[in-house]
Amino acid sequence: MNKKKSLVDLLIHDLTGPLSIITTTINNLIKKQDRYGQLTERQKKTLDMILRNANKAQGFLHDIIEVYRSEDGIIRSDKIYIRDVLNDAIMDAIEIVDPNFFEEFICNNTTQDMKEILKSKGIFIYIDGRYESSPFTHDRKKIQQILRNLITNALKYRKKEVKIRISGDRDLIIAVEDDGSGIPLEKQVDVFKRFLYSNLKGTVDETGLGFGLSCVKSIVEAVQGSITLKSEEGKGTCFTVQIPPLKD
Ligand SMILES: Nc1ncnc2c1ncn2[C@@H]1O[C@H](COP(=O)(O)OP(=O)(O)OP(=O)(O)O)[C@@H](O)[C@H]1O
Ligand SMILES: [Mg+2]
Repeated sequence: MNKKKSLVDLLIHDLTGPLSIITTTINNLIKKQDRYGQLTERQKKTLDMILRNANKAQGFLHDIIEVYRSEDGIIRSDKIYIRDVLNDAIMDAIEIVDPNFFEEFICNNTTQDMKEILKSKGIFIYIDGRYESSPFTHDRKKIQQILRNLITNALKYRKKEVKIRISGDRDLIIAVEDDGSGIPLEKQVDVFKRFLYSNLKGTVDETGLGFGLSCVKSIVEAVQGSITLKSEEGKGTCFTVQIPPLKD
């Protein structure tokens, strides 16, 4: 193993401990008010926000671990219903991009049809082919991570709409399309390079880490799939991923 990778491994390992103490303690403050003292509404909101971000940081660590696991050939075999995984991935993405809407969504919308609510937010879902009703055999975490990253980007860079299309009769086909400003042709190769793209001048979002798409590419390649990108400046971007099922 190279020196850089073992340093990163150590960092991941060392960060997991403190982060889990932070999340457990905040959880206790929020949930066990009889023991830790009553919270005002404002204090509770602030703690909720800290907890959400600590969970997010934990999520990033898990992402890195998942990429390492794929690069080392560790793939779980689950029977997954793509609609469920997609719903979870959309919720993850909304929480990252629009935490206020997410909070409103989980507090108030238990009975309303999820598809209708998403439509009103410009998110359209189309599922057809075999996996509309049959399970797809694959590593659930990895599929969710691919979806989450592509959907997060689409939500970040869209003008108004995001369309997510799931299809395929043998291989699973995922297409995530937005109507944003697009990626110039000469930069399309670079978006998949780890940490590079966010350093390039003239990017759409200077705040991103430039990590998500390289994770997606590593995972897709580790499972013998493919990822392609079609984008036209001013018109939008579509990422398409094709993933063969694992053997039963
Ligand atoms: N749908 C999209 N439309 C326009 N540009 C995009 C889109 N998806 C990705 N990009 C560009 O590619 C870059 C790399 O994307 P990537 O997901 O790897 O990183 P990021 O979103 O910047 O940060 P993070 O590591 O948090 O995901 C982005 O910074 C952005 O400039
Ligand atoms: Mg991203």
